[in-house]
Amino acid sequence: MSEPIVYLNGEYLPVDQAKVPVLDRGFIFGDGIYEVIPVYGGTLFRLEEHLIRLDNSLQAVRISNPFKHSEWQEMLESLLQKNSGTDQSVYVQITRGVAQRDHGFPENTQPTIFAMVNPLITPTVDALQQGISAITVNDIRWQNCHIKAIALLPNILMRQQALDKGATEAIMIRDGNVTEGAASNIFVIKDGIIRTPPKSNHLLPGITRDLVVELAHANELPCEEVSISEAELNNADEIWLTSSTKEIMPVTQLNDNIRNDGQPGPVWQQMYAIFQEYKASLR
Ligand code: PDD
Repeated sequence: MSEPIVYLNGEYLPVDQAKVPVLDRGFIFGDGIYEVIPVYGGTLFRLEEHLIRLDNSLQAVRISNPFKHSEWQEMLESLLQKNSGTDQSVYVQITRGVAQRDHGFPENTQPTIFAMVNPLITPTVDALQQGISAITVNDIRWQNCHIKAIALLPNILMRQQALDKGATEAIMIRDGNVTEGAASNIFVIKDGIIRTPPKSNHLLPGITRDLVVELAHANELPCEEVSISEAELNNADEIWLTSSTKEIMPVTQLNDNIRNDGQPGPVWQQMYAIFQEYKASLR
């Protein structure tokens, strides 16, 4: 297979030729933001929603957006054309740029803009039928989790804690309430009602989360955006985790408790079918 082509500051290059100076503030401080956008059948999925979230992240960290939405679309479509494959995930990163190390913002520094394409490997039917196992952890992050910041050390530590215990994801609890997974949003189902925590500075406003809420309403499945306590999580009939790369994953084991005989529940079966149908309608 030929070398993947990436985008870096106006150029399309083979990945091994794309280099960023060591004084880039992304490298030195983790001073930047990112997006992950799925691509189905060559089409960028919910691009406008991802670009609005990108605008919001940039604005929150006071980096000006180097491109208009139409320019982002043009660049990302060119990048997709230069790489083979149909189902992909596009990673976009913008940092504050290269400057002498100093905490204060540098003056007259251009942001570093990077984008790459990776194959989108969504979970297989077998994997979905088994579901995943998750652990609960204390949410050790800051108060601005709505920003899609590249500084992911807490998320990495919590995810690794899950992996070390043989689990796949860490579900975070802050002040007794569930926030989200290390790289996913959470849904909890009880007595047929689908619930997810409301948007706040304690969680990332997931594009997949929003779509699941939208599809639930469109299909008249009861769905509420409300706080979920740790006890409600433990007593749930079903737990799902959502993200652009994992879609809707059922959790069949939480800490040491196997749930539902290790099977995804009926509401998940229904929502997953609705989600796949929606995706197919866009192809
Ligand atoms: N992460 N919450 C966190 C902390 C995340 O990192 C992600 C996604 C989500 C789900 O958001 P979305 O549905 O828009 O993908 C929620 C991406 C996939 C990542 O970091 O690779």
